[in-house]
Formats: sequence, C-alpha cells, structure tokens
Amino acid sequence: MTESPAPADMPELFTWEFANDPYPAYAWLREHAPVHRTTLPSGVEAWLVTRYADARQALADQRLSKNPDHHDEPSHAKGKTGIPGERKAELMTHLLNIDPPDHTRLRRLVSKAFTPRRVAEFAPRVQELTDDLIDRFATKGEADLIHDFAFPLPIYAICDLLGVPREDQDDFRDWAGMMIRHGGGPRGGVARSVKKMRGYLAELIHRKRNDPGDDLISGLIRASDHGEHLTENEAAAMAFILLFAGFETTVNLIGNGTYALLTHPEQRARLQSSIAAGERDLLETGVEELLRFDGPVEMATWRFATEPLSIGGQDIAAGDPVLVVLAAADRDPARFAEPDTLDLSRTDNQHLGYGHGIHYCLGAPLARLEGQAALATLLTRLPDLRLAVDPADLRRRGGLIMRGLRTLPVAFTPLER
Ligand code: HEM
Repeated sequence: MTESPAPADMPELFTWEFANDPYPAYAWLREHAPVHRTTLPSGVEAWLVTRYADARQALADQRLSKNPDHHDEPSHAKGKTGIPGERKAELMTHLLNIDPPDHTRLRRLVSKAFTPRRVAEFAPRVQELTDDLIDRFATKGEADLIHDFAFPLPIYAICDLLGVPREDQDDFRDWAGMMIRHGGGPRGGVARSVKKMRGYLAELIHRKRNDPGDDLISGLIRASDHGEHLTENEAAAMAFILLFAGFETTVNLIGNGTYALLTHPEQRARLQSSIAAGERDLLETGVEELLRFDGPVEMATWRFATEPLSIGGQDIAAGDPVLVVLAAADRDPARFAEPDTLDLSRTDNQHLGYGHGIHYCLGAPLARLEGQAALATLLTRLPDLRLAVDPADLRRRGGLIMRGLRTLPVAFTPLER
C-alpha cells in the first residue's frame, strides 16, 4: 500500500472517545484525508473512504470484490463482515461474501421469497409484537430500551417471518444475545451459540422441505430460477444472513433512533404531534433522517480491490481492503445541507445507510416497517419517555461495522395495569 500523510493534528481513531462520537474525526478525514490508509485495531491495514461521492462510487464498483479470497492476507481478513460464526465454510456462501454471477443467482432466488409484499403483509404482526413488548415493561415506569425492546423486537420478527415456531424463539433470543456480545460472554459461548443455531436451522430446513408452510424458509426452499433451487446449505446460509443482517442493525436503528429523539426535544415534539394527528409523512422521512444522522451501520462490510484502481484520486493496490464509512459519507456537507443537524422533515436525503449498488440492503422494507412501528408506538404509548441517565454515561458496543448503544435506560409515567 502507498503511505498517506499522517499530520500532527490527525485525530486518533478507534479509541473509546471515537466510539462515542466519531463524527468530528470523520469530518477531519473527509477534509484532509478522504481516502485514508489506517491500521485497524485487529492489525489489518485498510483504506477508509469518507466522502459521499467516493463512497457511493466505491459501493457500486465491481472491481471491489466482496470475496475475502481477494485479500493478500486472507487469513486475517476472512470472516470480517461482522457476522459471528461466518468462518464456518457452510455459512460463508452468503450474499455479503460473494460477487456476480453467484451473487446475482442467490439474490434473485432470495428476492423471490423475501418480497416487499410478504413484508407488507407482516405489518400487523410487527405491531402486535411491538405492543406486547411494551406491555411487559409499561407498568414499571423504567426500562432498558435496548434489552427490553430494541433487542427482542427484531429477533422475534425475523423468527416469525422465517417460520421458527414460537416455542423455539426464546432459544434464538439467547443464542443471538450471546453472539451480539462479540465474545464478551463466557468462553466459547459465541461458538457454541452459532453451532446450536446452525444445527437448528439445518433441521428446520429439512423439516420444511417435507412439510412446507407459508413462511420465508419454505419460500426459500421453493424458490426457483430457470429450474435452479437453493441447496440446503445455501438455504441455511441465507436464513443465517437474514437473521444477522436484520438483527443487530434493527436493534441499533431503534436504539440510536430513540436516543437521537430523546436528545433533540424539539424534533421529538414535532414527531409526536404529527403521529398524534394520524399523519405518517414525518415518521417516514424521520426514520430515514435517523438512519442518515446516526445510522446502525458505521462502515459497509469489507471490500477488496481485485486490480489496481483509484478512489478519489488515491491509488489502491490489488488485494487492498477498502472500508466505505457510511457514517462519514452521510454527514458530508458536499451532499447534505447542515449535515450535523437532525431534521426529521429532510426530504433531499439519499443517504447510504442501507448501502448502494448490488449489495443494497435486501431487508430495507422490513427495517423501515420495524423502525417506524417501534418509534411511533413508543412515543404514543409512553408520551413522556425520557433518558434516565446522563448521555455522557452511555457506552457504545464495540466493533468496527456496527454502531449501537449497549444500554439505553429510560423512565416514563407508568401505565395502569
Ligand atoms: C435499519 C436496519 C438495517 C440497516 C441500516 C441495514 C443496512 C445494510 C447495509 C448498509 C447493507 C450493505 C452492506 C454492504 O454493501 O457492505 C445491507 C445489506 C443487507 N441487508 Fe440490511 N440493514 C438493515 C436491516 C436489514 C434487515 C431487517 C434484513 C433482513 C431481514 C437485512 C438484510 C440484508 C441482506 C441480506 C443484505 C445483503 C444484500 C446483498 O449482499 O445483496 N437488513 N444492509
């Protein structure tokens, strides 16, 4: 790799201060070193792309491969999409680790089963789940919104959608909880949870093959394209990526989104009165703005240069890893007016929170559905919801790709039983 200059005023990356508020450092990078080579905490060297125009171009550049075999240190970079357990070969063949033509084939097949219509039909169930979860803590007057709400909602939602029977969903909740801790749990806990989930999914897929239902797993098994079907391994990897791509991201949308609303009282009041008046416009633009302002995915997943190329005038060598920093691009003043201001009514908002190009988020309609239901229901049912701690005491969860809070303690007037 070619060295890029590291001036004395360059902010330090990947510290705790940075994790809590990376935006000033990203502003510096955008201005002074928009395509910047850095050493990540894991020791791997990668290029960070921080300007909106470069980011959008890089996300769509087919010379940047998603396949970790293109990295010149594959043993380091393999399994770095942030999805636990993906080093297991049978779970590796998923959308975020492959390129066309395999990606095109798998995405087309999954898109036949995971349709916007299926998601729209799921809306009443998402509302029911949202209300049930709020019922569980509403009489207490306090809650940890991450643990009690943002975390269980997406896991139950995706389990229902996939066709995991209700009586098994708490097992999923436990396994997912272990995985999201990024190794912070008991020794071997993550590996054990991945193994259990993998075994469970393989068995479920086998069962659904013999006795299909109206769920997404049965849809994945049934989906065919020019006579081609997913193999059982591919279907298991697909169910796993849907679970993981759709889990921590949505936890963080609800967590970061609620936090942003609670710390921007004027915007929150506008949204609350608009929802009370039965309007949806501000809720819809508002959730997009929350994704732009402090989105769940800080950096897009790993990409690797398959040939020498240039991004924003910076030469990148074949084999170099590239990380597109969505959080930096979405605050670029060259693209967004007053980018550091939260404006829920922003309409010129083509943010990169869901990515761009062929890997654009497949679950965006489900994420929007869950995000809108979660925020609207919280603000309606707990109208005086407030932070129960000083914002300075809140901590972010570690990890390169995702951006989210560990806990979000809140207080409110308890609802009557
Ligand atoms: C607010 C919540 C979400 C956000 C912010 C989000 C964000 C993203 C982003 C940025 C990417 C592209 C990554 C890259 O190019 O490196 C992506 C891809 C993907 N997302 Fe989401 N996501 C969310 C929710 C979901 C949900 C609910 C699901 C499914 C249940 C899902 C499934 C996927 C899949 C399967 C991909 C890979 C698509 C491909 O490679 O073709 N996501 N998501």
